Amino acid sequence: MRYISIEKTKPGMILGKEVFDDEGRILLSVNTKLTKEYITRLSIRGYQGVYIEDELSRGIKIDEVISVELRNRGAQAVKDGNIDDLKTIAKDIVSQLLDKDKSISIDIQDLRTYDNYTYKHSVNVAVISTIIGIYLSYDEESLYELCLAALMHDIGKTKIDPAIINKPARLTMAEYRLVQEHARYSYDILDQNWLMPARTKQGVLHHHENEDGTGYPDRLVGDEIPSYAKIIHVADVYDALTSKRPYKKPYALSEAIEYLMGGSNVLFDRKAVEAFLEAVPVYAKGIEVTMTNGEKALVVANSSNPLRPIVRLISNGKDIDLNNDKDYISVTIAPHTVVENDFTSVYEKFECD
Ligand SMILES: [Fe+2]
Repeated sequence: MRYISIEKTKPGMILGKEVFDDEGRILLSVNTKLTKEYITRLSIRGYQGVYIEDELSRGIKIDEVISVELRNRGAQAVKDGNIDDLKTIAKDIVSQLLDKDKSISIDIQDLRTYDNYTYKHSVNVAVISTIIGIYLSYDEESLYELCLAALMHDIGKTKIDPAIINKPARLTMAEYRLVQEHARYSYDILDQNWLMPARTKQGVLHHHENEDGTGYPDRLVGDEIPSYAKIIHVADVYDALTSKRPYKKPYALSEAIEYLMGGSNVLFDRKAVEAFLEAVPVYAKGIEVTMTNGEKALVVANSSNPLRPIVRLISNGKDIDLNNDKDYISVTIAPHTVVENDFTSVYEKFECD
């Protein structure tokens, strides 16, 4: 199976994974043959891409890190603001992730549309944060507290005018200040709940603090920032960067990873970024890449060197281990093409997401 952007889909292609609508219902099932009409509808609804199954991608398997059912349940509970459900969902996310028998790798590409962004974003941030916690050897109770904080980090946005939250353009400074209040609002909502772990509340309150003290609400520096908040900050920014929004294109994974590495010790905690890098491949399985010799290829599997995966040439279907193949010793994956986004303005905007 391989990932293909919606612009590159053609009638006759076979879906390798189902496509869900915003309510979690199956829109198109696995093995559906795409038609011109389906492609147009997916495009109008804002889907960025789909997984297809074809001869070239035979044998490439891409696993979900948590079940689609749990993901949808999580998004619904965030939407409803149902804290009791969210507690159960946090337990289920931790237990599904701990059940994985091998190291977890987030290969799946984002198939979301940008409707209902906040709800799905919160579930993604919870999954990524929990995986970071697993790589940092957190015990199960801490993973639960962290996951719960990540699910609810933006719950306070419900107290802000939706016209500002969903504004498809850059915010004014006054609007930006209003949006920043969401961290305190989230804390207040959690604080009203009985038996909410103190570390979960602190994780939520400080998820926009930067290591250098330039964040909010309290401009905390380095070790003053609670560890759950540091992890959620990394997961939050990564997911915001790689998501398609009305005002920006999604960043390639490699670009988002570069951004996190560049912000290490300045915006982000270095240990949280390093743990994150263990779980997220620079080149995910099933994506198409261009190499420095001009050849195009699919990523088949990752190797010990994250920058040199095993790839399959699109021209002849031959697998090349970039880490070991002598003929490809001087060939690398070409740097991503520069997208029109400018990091500064996008960062400012997604800080509000
Ligand atoms: Fe936030």
